Amino acid sequence: MDAAAHGNLLKKRLVIFGCGYVGSALAEEAQARGLQVTALTRNHGRALALRAQGVEVVVAELAGVDWHAQIPDGAEWVVNCVSSGGGGVDNYRRSYVDGMRSILEWAKGAPVGTLVFTSSTSVYPQDGGVWVDETCSTKGATELPQVLVEAEELLRETSARAGSDASSVAAVCQRWFILRLAGIYGPGRHHLLDQMRRGETQIAGRGDHRLNLAHRDDIVAAIWAVLEAPASVANEVFNIADGNPATKAEISAWLAGCLGCASPSFTNEAVRGRRAVTPDRMISSAKLSARLGWSPRHPDFRHGYAALLAPDGPQAG
Ligand SMILES: NC(=O)c1ccc[n+]([C@@H]2O[C@H](COP(=O)([O-])OP(=O)(O)OC[C@H]3O[C@@H](n4cnc5c(N)ncnc54)[C@H](OP(=O)(O)O)[C@@H]3O)[C@@H](O)[C@H]2O)c1
Repeated sequence: MDAAAHGNLLKKRLVIFGCGYVGSALAEEAQARGLQVTALTRNHGRALALRAQGVEVVVAELAGVDWHAQIPDGAEWVVNCVSSGGGGVDNYRRSYVDGMRSILEWAKGAPVGTLVFTSSTSVYPQDGGVWVDETCSTKGATELPQVLVEAEELLRETSARAGSDASSVAAVCQRWFILRLAGIYGPGRHHLLDQMRRGETQIAGRGDHRLNLAHRDDIVAAIWAVLEAPASVANEVFNIADGNPATKAEISAWLAGCLGCASPSFTNEAVRGRRAVTPDRMISSAKLSARLGWSPRHPDFRHGYAALLAPDGPQAG
């Protein structure tokens, strides 16, 4: 990075809402780039870890308003990567919809520059092995992903209303991006690998359904790509996945080979806590690659897991 570019970054402020697995990796890189970073989380352990790396942390419930006075508005870059933390539809609604509403209310004080929301490819109901891109409908999304669709719509509609009638609705951001993330894995998050290391011989889900994965570091790179996108790119939805889905059976057989154990069988039933098995489809991220030149450094599960399996691989996180 040249001195001028570095100088521009130094002036920027990044606020990360719901700073957990992805948010912490983003915060670390933002600090390395010299940005001023503020993170909000309700998780005290996460807050301690973030403070230890020098991040300014606000511990608060995102859906509330207590934090509004603690985080100055008007930030150039804002990333909402809150998750539900599990639980049922009420938890989802509080974190995603009420959380988004609170951010938009806060932003009315002084509009932010770019506002990014990390949604999920679970908003797509498509099944049957088809390719899914951003033009595919989210109609028919099941109960929990429907809450994410609501949060997405709240962002789009609030921003559009402000744009169409600035006199009655305060602007909330100059532009927004919705990133629909596939299944996240990376250092410290590798559930299937953990199950196999524990010697589990039967795994929930369908072995013949494809998993769409996105490595944490490629997600962070995608967030940078939209934050730094030219002004001509605005108000877009992008899928984030490695683009090379493989069936759960194929991935676990490959892991079994690496671990020297037998391939597991599958229950063909939903993972506990979920109502349905993950649909079989292939998520395309071609739009982000074409528009902003993003390409995953971990283009398939073999590449990503090989790094995690390496004796000196990055296991912490
Ligand atoms: N996991 C996946 O495979 C997957 C797939 C697609 C999309 N996504 C999306 O990717 C994004 C990043 O996921 P992630 O894995 O980084 O999530 P994560 O590790 O669970 O981090 C989310 C953070 O937000 C905090 N949080 C949750 N609800 C909150 C609330 N109401 N108020 C304040 N803080 C709250 C969490 O605290 P607690 O620890 O107390 O809950 C946690 O610190 C999320 O938007 C998620 O929906 C995830």
